[in-house]
Amino acid sequence: MAKHVPTDKRRFYGRRQARPLSPARQTAIDTLLPKLKIPEEDITQQGTIIPSSLFEKQREEIWLEIGFGNGEHLAELTRQQPHNGFIGAEPFINGMAAFLKDISNDPADNIRVWMEDAIKLVDSIASDSLDGIYVLNPDPWHKTRHHKRRIISTENLDRFARILKSGATLIMTTDVDGLAEWMLTHAVNHPEFEWTACSREDWAVAPQGWIKTRYEEKGAQAGRKQSYLIFKRR
Ligand SMILES: C[S@@+](CC[C@H](N)C(=O)[O-])C[C@H]1O[C@@H](n2cnc3c(N)ncnc32)[C@H](O)[C@@H]1O
Repeated sequence: MAKHVPTDKRRFYGRRQARPLSPARQTAIDTLLPKLKIPEEDITQQGTIIPSSLFEKQREEIWLEIGFGNGEHLAELTRQQPHNGFIGAEPFINGMAAFLKDISNDPADNIRVWMEDAIKLVDSIASDSLDGIYVLNPDPWHKTRHHKRRIISTENLDRFARILKSGATLIMTTDVDGLAEWMLTHAVNHPEFEWTACSREDWAVAPQGWIKTRYEEKGAQAGRKQSYLIFKRR
């Protein structure tokens, strides 16, 4: 296992805001965020959040989506799987606002959000408590000197392994070849994760019922091929 860098020493690399919010998105932030956000005081970075306690009703499974962008995938999951609970982490306010606006007409009771670095949330979640984690199209950080900023690292896989139940799922996608290889190599070499793929089709073709994210749609239109890297926590 890699040595953990304390989360308060971690730097967040990425954008927090790009442009001013439209009135509708600002309203979504003002009205829905306070209801759905995980309270700051719960973010102890000591493994104290019991995910099931975040939801009023009991949930069959609880999944975390890290870096959900505009949240198309997350919103659809909450609609398709009302029996499951979902936690979404996205520090980019324009993305969070787009997601909240999307669900504002019919906000489900199976979603909680965190508008900050997902790793602070991960470190605050109790061990062996999640059924799955999605990391969909993470920022590729193309330059070699920026590879250390990538969200998939041995250290963060250690963190994910801690909070996932035995047999839980880690799904990572990208249409950037170098990043696919990076994520695959890190996860295959991690003792706590096992790749589920048996053939090329298992990682080169979207799983049945797959919900495409905005990045995936844009990549497909540009002719890029998406990889679906699905691992089980041992
Ligand atoms: C390339 S976008 C992909 C968005 C979305 N998953 C999709 O496929 O459309 C990567 C997202 O990860 C978010 N992100 C980057 N670092 C993060 C972190 N430490 N915690 C949570 N989200 C992060 C960014 O703000 C951005 O929205």
